[in-house]
This record gives sequence, structure tokens and C-alpha cells, in this order.
Amino acid sequence: MSTVTLKDITNLCKRRGFIFQSSEIYGGIGSVWDYGPLGIELKKSVKDMWWKSMVYDRDDVEGLDAAILMNPETWRASGHIGSFADMMVDCLKCKKRFRIDSFKGKKCPECGGDITDPKGFNLMFKTRFGAVEGEAQEVYLRPETAQGIFVNFENILNTSRRKLPFGVAQIGKAFRNEITTGNFTFRSREFEQMELEFFVKPDEDEKWYEYWLGERMKWYASLGIRKENLRLREHAEEELAHYAKKCHDIEFLFPMGWSELEGIANRKDYDLSQHAKISGKDLRFFDVAENKRYTPYVIEPSGGVDRAVLAFLVDAYRAETVKERKRVYLSLDKRLAPIKVAVLPLLKNRPEIVEMAHRIRDDIRGNYRVVYDDTAAIGRLYRRQDEIGTPYCVTVDVDSLNDEKVTVRDRDTMEQTRVAAAGLKKFFEEKLGE
Ligand code: GAP
Repeated sequence: MSTVTLKDITNLCKRRGFIFQSSEIYGGIGSVWDYGPLGIELKKSVKDMWWKSMVYDRDDVEGLDAAILMNPETWRASGHIGSFADMMVDCLKCKKRFRIDSFKGKKCPECGGDITDPKGFNLMFKTRFGAVEGEAQEVYLRPETAQGIFVNFENILNTSRRKLPFGVAQIGKAFRNEITTGNFTFRSREFEQMELEFFVKPDEDEKWYEYWLGERMKWYASLGIRKENLRLREHAEEELAHYAKKCHDIEFLFPMGWSELEGIANRKDYDLSQHAKISGKDLRFFDVAENKRYTPYVIEPSGGVDRAVLAFLVDAYRAETVKERKRVYLSLDKRLAPIKVAVLPLLKNRPEIVEMAHRIRDDIRGNYRVVYDDTAAIGRLYRRQDEIGTPYCVTVDVDSLNDEKVTVRDRDTMEQTRVAAAGLKKFFEEKLGE
């Protein structure tokens, strides 16, 4: 079990500006979160690294950004209107609602009151579409980004002239009116997904399924998640979603225990066949080599951006004692660190030092976030940067004015190196691989 608690992470996120409760001044709104100045950088880097590995580093994947609002027929076809529901009971006394699988017995676990018979509670958020009251149509906020890809299958195929196998990648918001929330951002009502729908020949599904299991495990490990904190868990027959032939979860050892980070499913030809049936459009692929039409199978690695961000934070959290003082630092992969370099003047009352520090900050910024900070003594400034995972601090001191050299401090080892100020841009380009 990891030693960091969810409370450590929640406190750090709030104190340092990674994640805040949504509309906090009004008391918040359940399980909806805002990403602050550092959170947005971390989240953006996670998405950029996913996009790089899924789209830029490959030649068999196209990108898409589909709308959140879709024709409601989409959700009838996908099965979400019929079966995207949790079985719930309501307490007649305290009016609380519970998932049926969350307790045993026939009385309310909170107040002992009588409960209703179980009924299905659909997890999709509904809203009204159109300006005229009474004529407005009910639409849904998408509960997964995947369907935007399936309904665009033909558009993408026609415009990109792809052959099988090929994939479509998308990152975007999804919404679920979750009943059991909690564990910080782990289960939110508004969240982001990074999904790939990889279309394959039906008889090649198992091979590609295995391939994506391996690729996705490697992606998390390549960005620093320790192998002992990652595992694959296969879904039992009764756990499988209505569309899935097979499914594995990539699980991470969160502070509350092993929990799902990403799902990898073999969706067969379920979605394309359903959309073909309901829309009346032929969504089969014409295989020129075999001179026949068929509906491709789909392998889907579907990850949550917010869960990935949380996992990277948990995995990177380190607490140690240095010279009898507690040091907390985030050992984030440099590519994910919100701020890459902090430039710090040793003495803020010496204008020449401050001026040189500003000059250095201006010189090295451009491709990534560089900050200047003189709001505390140097020891405090280092601790602040350690805690938010900044890989390098540059300190300008009195000697710098004479030798034009500065001290570069490494976050993980705390090692300090003197580097010529003029060579810093190149130094960081090499270190940060930008
Ligand atoms: N298209 C398939 C799909 O949506 P899912 O297992 O329901 O499958 C995929 O969701 C991923 O989305 C999950 O592995 C998780 O990372 C993320 N996710 C799902 N519900 C979430 C929630 N309420 N809050 C945060 N992330 C969520």
C-alpha cells in the first residue's frame, strides 16, 4: 500500500493551486473540480503526452474533436438510454439514495428507515435544446467521448482514405451523474477522457487487443509510474459492459486501494452496427484487397485524464527528512512538471542580481513555463518548488555578477552545479528534451 494519503494530495493540490472545488465560494458542487494554475499545466502535459504517443508517434491514427451535444438517437443506438444505469434504492425517511450493491439488508444504512424497491437510475445528464419552451428537445451531455468517433467513422474514412487497421483519437469532456462519488477527483461528475477507437479486421481483434494492453501499460510506466503500482485486471463475464467481448482495467494503487485508471475493451462491431441500424446508413468498410464489405471490430483504450493526473501526483509524492527537516517533493517526470525552471535571486535587495535573474528568465522561457520568484528566503523558495515538482531551480548570487555563472539545483538529488548563464538555454533544452 502506498504511504501517501489522499488527504496529503488533496491538501497539496489546494494549497499550491493544482485543484480547487468548483464554485467553492458558494459551498462547492458535489464532485466537480477546477484545475488551478499548476493543475492546468499538469493536465495539459498529460493530454499532450497521450496525444503524442497516440497520434504524432504513429502513422495509423487520426485525431477528432467531436461536440459534447449529440443527436439523442446516438444514445439510443449506443445503448446508453437503455442500460447506462445503476440500480438504486431511496430511503423513505431520510430521502438518501444508495446503490443497491453498496449495502445488504432491507433498511437504510444511515437512519434505519424503510427503503423503496430498487429502480434503474440513468447516469446521463439531460438538458434542453432549443429556445422555444415546450418545443425544446431533450438532449444529453455525453457520458463518453467514444460515440463522437463512431458517428464520424464514415467522415473520417472518406476524408483520410484509411485502410484497416486505423484508429481515431479524441480527448474531451464527459459527464456522468454518479451516485457514489468521493475520493477527490477519482469519480467526478464532469471529467475528461482520452479515448482511442482502433478499427481492425474482425479476425484480427485478439491480436490488436493484446497489443493495446501492452502499449498502454508502457505509456504509464514511461511517464514515471512505478511498475509495482500498476496492474492489469481482466473483467469477469458478469462485469462486462453490454458492448464488450473482453475488457481489462489498468489499475493503479491509489491511496484507497487498487482502482481503475483506464479500461481497454474489445467492443466488437457493436457500435458501428448499432449506428448503422438506427441511422439507416451503411457503415461497413469496403476491403479492396478482399473485395468485400464488413463492419470493423473496435479495440478501445479509454483512459480518464483526471484519474491519470491523480495517479501521477500520488506516484510522484515523496516525503523525506533532510538535515532533520521534512522535505516533500513531487518527483514528476520532467515532461509533466507544471513549471520546468524557477529562477530565484539570492538577494532581492540587490538590483543587479534581480536584473540578472529577470534577464535569465526571459532568455530561457518560450517553450515551457519558467517562473521568477523572490517572495521568500532561498530555503523556502526551494521547498516551494520541490513541493510542486519543479525539476530545476536557478539561483543568481553575488558571484554571478562577476563570473556570469549561476547555480542550477536538481529537484530529486538536490545537487547543485555552476553553469554559465549564457549557456543555460541550451543546458535546459538538453535536460528537458524540448
Ligand atoms: N468509452 C468507454 C468508457 O467510457 P469507462 O470505463 O466507463 O469506459 C473510461 O470509462 C475511463 O474514464 C475510466 O477508466 C476512467 O479513467 C474514466 N472515468 C470514467 N468515469 C469517471 C468518473 N466519474 N470520474 C473520473 N473519471 C472517470
